Amino acid sequence: MAIQRLDALVLLTLTGGGFQRRGGGGTGYIQETYLAHLIPQKDQAIFDFSVLTSQLEEGSNSEAEPAIQNSPIKTQNFPWRVSEPLSLDELTNQDFLDLVEGLEAEFEEEFVARQVDADQDKVLLVGVMTQQMTLLDFEDGLAEITRLVDSAGGQVLQTVRQKRSRPHPQTVVGEGKVQEIALTAQTISANLVVFDRDLSSAQIRNLETMLGIRVVDRTEVILDIFAQRARSSEGKLQVELAQLEYTLPRLRGRGQTMSRQGGGIGTRGPGETKLETERRTIAKRIARLQQEVNQLLAHRFRLRQNRHHHEVPSIAIVGYTNAGKSTLLNLLTNSEVYAADQLFATLDPTTRRLTIPGPVPDEPLSIVLTDTVGFIRELPPALIDAFRATLEEVTDADALMHVVDLSHPAWQSQIRSVMNILADMPVTPGPAIVVFNKIDAVDGETLAIAREEFPQAVFISAAKGLGMETLRDRLSQLIQYAISPR
Ligand code: GTP
Repeated sequence: MAIQRLDALVLLTLTGGGFQRRGGGGTGYIQETYLAHLIPQKDQAIFDFSVLTSQLEEGSNSEAEPAIQNSPIKTQNFPWRVSEPLSLDELTNQDFLDLVEGLEAEFEEEFVARQVDADQDKVLLVGVMTQQMTLLDFEDGLAEITRLVDSAGGQVLQTVRQKRSRPHPQTVVGEGKVQEIALTAQTISANLVVFDRDLSSAQIRNLETMLGIRVVDRTEVILDIFAQRARSSEGKLQVELAQLEYTLPRLRGRGQTMSRQGGGIGTRGPGETKLETERRTIAKRIARLQQEVNQLLAHRFRLRQNRHHHEVPSIAIVGYTNAGKSTLLNLLTNSEVYAADQLFATLDPTTRRLTIPGPVPDEPLSIVLTDTVGFIRELPPALIDAFRATLEEVTDADALMHVVDLSHPAWQSQIRSVMNILADMPVTPGPAIVVFNKIDAVDGETLAIAREEFPQAVFISAAKGLGMETLRDRLSQLIQYAISPR
């Protein structure tokens, strides 16, 4: 009903005797009729499909359906109502128009009541667990995309999961799952479906057509966050470039049907108005932006040359998003860089001067510390390109400080993701030191594992100011090693 946009559904049962249809099929007179329609859910704590499935499986004999429909306990949480058996006369005497108008009003009321924060996207998250994934990887990925949605200003109301050997080429999930998504989205009044992976333009088109609701993939969520966070004109320029490059091949098919649903995740950003203009205009704009970015790169290069000229050693802070890089920079340099419990709080590189102990007592060393954009696994390639300037700070630095959130359950795979991205950089970065942060929120066992795996690492808590002296000493050693002639 949700998919087909039906207001109500009538089911007729036949007597099975009397009138015979030529050619077979159902025979008899109408015995009973049932009237069914969707109802708004008062409690958005959501209908659990597994309950229905298990109830249907429990009683898959013919008595099962009346049992479900007659039992007030079993049906009370379902997002639909099925009438008691009605005679044909009773059914035809119903005022359908009245019923439908009443229902529409109820849906409307419920919808308005939930619009507490009208700007927030109400998101239905869809996760697909394929064969190559472990359950842990899958759940970590879902937790991450939930935080990404949150950082983008959306709210995940419910998550639908499916296990498949591989994604369905047309719709990512199977046909039955698409229906479940459609119904769930309707019952929870979601206005956006987010997938935990990247989708092809055809998959997005097919899903949007079948669901009648906007569908965005992981990269679009990340791009959206970047679009909201970019502050400097340079950052905005780069985000626009990345968004256009990602959207250009997907433009076709994202037609008029979706535009009535307004803005939200995936539609914001400097490029939003351009998305509807012609591809050729966009291609031209991409070329122009690329040129501007290149000019910026040249400008940065000159700035860096300047720095080399002054011979101020530099350390770039890298790390998975939310590792605590900005908090640490603030603490070390007594500054006020924006730090928040959100992914990608920092977008534009921030550079601060820091004084650390030097090789000669009472002669402190002055260095430059740069906070860079947070890393994330499978960083969209469009963004790696667009954020070249930010990431180039990394390759340009004399040394790296790799900050790890040790309190995150996936800290090991986060380290690997950062290493992989660094390994793909065109210029190999200088020597690095691993700094485990948030030790105030870590148990002894995790600490022991990290110490064993990374004996050279430094353990700190930027929030509580723990381990700072050791860190300063180690940074000093690192920078002296990095700039010493070899
Ligand atoms: P991005 O900008 O997303 O790359 O994040 P970031 O790495 O700059 O992290 P940020 O400094 O914004 O900190 C992320 C969150 O972790 C904030 O809520 C901090 O308060 C918290 N945090 C930072 N250091 C610590 C720590 O030592 N212990 C605990 N418990 N929380 C911390």
